[in-house]
Amino acid sequence: MASIELKNAEKWFNADQIIKGINLRISKGEFIVFVGPSGCGKSTLLRMIAGLEETSSGQIIVDDRDATSEPPYKRGLAMVFQSYALYPHMSVRENMGFSLKSAGLLKSEIAAKVDEAASILKLGAFMERRPKDLSGGQRQRVAIGRSIVREPSAFLFDEPLSNLDAALRVEMRYEIAKLHQTLKTTMIYVTHDQVEAMTLANRIVVLDEGRIAQVGSPRDLYENPSNLFVAQFIGSPKMNIFSASAPGLSYPVPKGTDQLGIRPEHITLSQAGIGHFDGVVDVIEYLGSDTFIILDCGLYGRLTARVNGATDFNPGDTCGLNFQNQRVHYFNDKGSSLPR
Ligand SMILES: Nc1ncnc2c1ncn2[C@@H]1O[C@H](COP(=O)(O)OP(=O)(O)OP(=O)(O)O)[C@@H](O)[C@H]1O
Ligand SMILES: [Mg+2]
Repeated sequence: MASIELKNAEKWFNADQIIKGINLRISKGEFIVFVGPSGCGKSTLLRMIAGLEETSSGQIIVDDRDATSEPPYKRGLAMVFQSYALYPHMSVRENMGFSLKSAGLLKSEIAAKVDEAASILKLGAFMERRPKDLSGGQRQRVAIGRSIVREPSAFLFDEPLSNLDAALRVEMRYEIAKLHQTLKTTMIYVTHDQVEAMTLANRIVVLDEGRIAQVGSPRDLYENPSNLFVAQFIGSPKMNIFSASAPGLSYPVPKGTDQLGIRPEHITLSQAGIGHFDGVVDVIEYLGSDTFIILDCGLYGRLTARVNGATDFNPGDTCGLNFQNQRVHYFNDKGSSLPR
């Protein structure tokens, strides 16, 4: 199990700075998720840790050893990609054992390690099949198995589930969580999906254009986002944001507040005239377990409220919006959170 530390890590591609001074310490056994919009530098940062991409300046420390200029194979880390890149002409067993065979291990040792990985990943029934005869989820499990047999000191995952359909993604998400519980190995996992980030991570690193916007536990980021970017990136549907200077807002705000934020689940709807302001129901999205109610609130803009189960409101109805007081967020004109 490895600890990994990034010290002022930077990456330039020619004149473009893609990674802008990342400082981060990842403890042994932690499950860290890098999340952020497309192009923010998640894969680049992961590849720098793996050694697949040169670090322009700064340091990558693996287990207190400066690994910045070490080649990938010396770092003891295993990378699992979105495209599984299995050998099509080899069976599952051969795919999983290939790196050990190349490393010159005895047949019996290889068989023991492959069988153990297969049992962790429930691949036992598929060992003699070729990749083309497997489902996408099974192929991804083989790709993970191929890294497990190497007993890496950390796993680096780059969007491993993004090729799978929604149902399978949920299932594989569970399996990756179980895998971490079983192996207890350090894992760094890249995704642009905030639900994957929230459900898997011990700590989430939110990246915004090559910088860390915030690092924290999923609950930290949800409850105390330190800026507008994180506030709107974490949580679905997104946090509602409206201007503190909208005329008629009878809501006390801390000094320096430019915008307010309230999550859809922290708005209670009541009859018109009761609450902070009124809105007209525009669209109702019924999901079964809950309902999203999209409201046109005039000068405050369009807000979404979320209620458990169904709603009795209909499009065109006017209703009052009430905010759970402790749940309102305040941002200054730079987008930083203000204390509540
Ligand atoms: N070899 C390269 N040469 C030049 N620019 C590159 C290179 N590799 C990546 N980039 C740029 O670096 C930026 C970050 O890319 P990266 O692949 O790290 O983003 P990402 O956060 O993983 O995005 P996605 O969610 O789409 O995978 C992008 O603007 C990309 O165009
Ligand atoms: Mg990427």
